[in-house]
Amino acid sequence: MKIGLILTAGGIGTRFNSKVPKQFLPLKGKPLMIYTLENLLKIKDFNSIVITYPINWENVLLESILNLPLKEKIEIVEGGPERFYSIWNALQKNSLKNSDIIIVHDAVRPFVTKDLIERLINHIKEYDGVVPGIKVKDTLKKVDESGLVTLTENREKIFAIQTPQIFKTNVIYNAYRKSIEEGKIFSDDAGAVEFAGYKVKVVEGSEYNIKITTSIDFSFAEFLLDKGFFNNP
Ligand code: CTP
Repeated sequence: MKIGLILTAGGIGTRFNSKVPKQFLPLKGKPLMIYTLENLLKIKDFNSIVITYPINWENVLLESILNLPLKEKIEIVEGGPERFYSIWNALQKNSLKNSDIIIVHDAVRPFVTKDLIERLINHIKEYDGVVPGIKVKDTLKKVDESGLVTLTENREKIFAIQTPQIFKTNVIYNAYRKSIEEGKIFSDDAGAVEFAGYKVKVVEGSEYNIKITTSIDFSFAEFLLDKGFFNNP
């Protein structure tokens, strides 16, 4: 099976609030996104790899990936103002179109594991897309503009969705095309795929597979690194 990979590194990390986008920040001397990429390269053989970068950060990305194996398979593309448009830009690369499935993964989720990827791939024959999710631990409530609660969700049926998200190649292309044509944008890829009427399956995600969003997440990543996480993915 030919697998295409989109690694999203096109954000500027507003919530992280650092001058250097968080994906390029050094974690024990190595850019965060390089942990993610090296980890993925160890797990699977990709026939095409496309990485998004934020405007003006092309050279930093090129420098970061300089010494990686399979460098010749990597293409880079400028991201857009939202993650959705970054993915759309990545999908324009012809090399991805020859894949049977496409995996989309956030460069800021370094703790992706082989188990997790195998779990997703095991289900892709039966569904159009497969995504990892974990049951939320907190109670979720909707509030109005003044902070007044309008609804308490039933936690049992609510999942926090992660990446990697995997899709049959024609599915992700059709879904993004439809969303773009109809002016809808989504915060994850499955959102577009669901909108286009396809079936998306949620499988068990991983509590370690956190998205580095704020500085506390970065500290947690350092902690896991010290504990030797990358030696036992
Ligand atoms: N991403 C992207 N293009 C964008 C925005 C985000 O490729 N326009 C990528 C990020 O680099 C990250 C992933 O999508 O790997 C998840 O983004 P997230 O961390 O939620 O967003 P950021 O834009 O990086 O941060 P913030 O929302 O705090 O601004």
